[in-house]
Amino acid sequence: MQYEVTQLTESVFKFSLFVEQVGLSFNQFLVMSDGLGVLIETGHRQYFPLLRPKIEEICPISNISKIFVPHFEGDEMGALGEFIAINKSIQVYATPLCSFSLGDLFDITVNKAQDKQVIKHGKLKLRAIHVPQVHQWDAMVVLEETTHTLFSSDMFIQLGDGNGFAEHNIKTEMETAIRKTGYLPSVEYFRKALLKLENEKIEILAPMHGRSINEDIDGYLSFLKQLDF
Ligand SMILES: [Fe+2]
Ligand SMILES: [Fe+2]
Repeated sequence: MQYEVTQLTESVFKFSLFVEQVGLSFNQFLVMSDGLGVLIETGHRQYFPLLRPKIEEICPISNISKIFVPHFEGDEMGALGEFIAINKSIQVYATPLCSFSLGDLFDITVNKAQDKQVIKHGKLKLRAIHVPQVHQWDAMVVLEETTHTLFSSDMFIQLGDGNGFAEHNIKTEMETAIRKTGYLPSVEYFRKALLKLENEKIEILAPMHGRSINEDIDGYLSFLKQLDF
């Protein structure tokens, strides 16, 4: 089992680990500006030894200045303690609800990212967009406004190997992931989350599980919006 690394844009790197036992890929993303990195998702704690050398080929952990945690769950924040142990100056961002748990568990002060708040990092602008109940109550996605990349966490996910970009239309794979796993508790909140993204300029969808997408973004949004489950 090993991480595959894809450069999504000049400044965005994707680290993808396919875990065969669960039939799911786990992606983390590193966004670089002026030699400093922002990490979106930490991955599971148990896979940190696999992730660390891949990240450090691009950016030493001492140069990671921010970590965004989309919600409180092992794949999204499990390795947070490992990163902080190496670099205590890392600033962590999460929704207020999520930061409450992270602060207690890791004994750190977590920055509460409010809905629509923009956090600057060099020339980058990372906007938190709260998406409660997708699939956890404390969830957010992150839109990087200069590369127009949406780090969509558990929205737009697909089962199977998620390395790189999709090479064909994968709308039905997304539907399968929703129906097969039942991971979304509320169609109403899911649609609300999709509505929030509707008027945003998004050029790359970067879900945490599955392939990234760089075409027909509006088509994916409208396809998912009409699903009932
Ligand atoms: Fe999740
Ligand atoms: Fe996830």
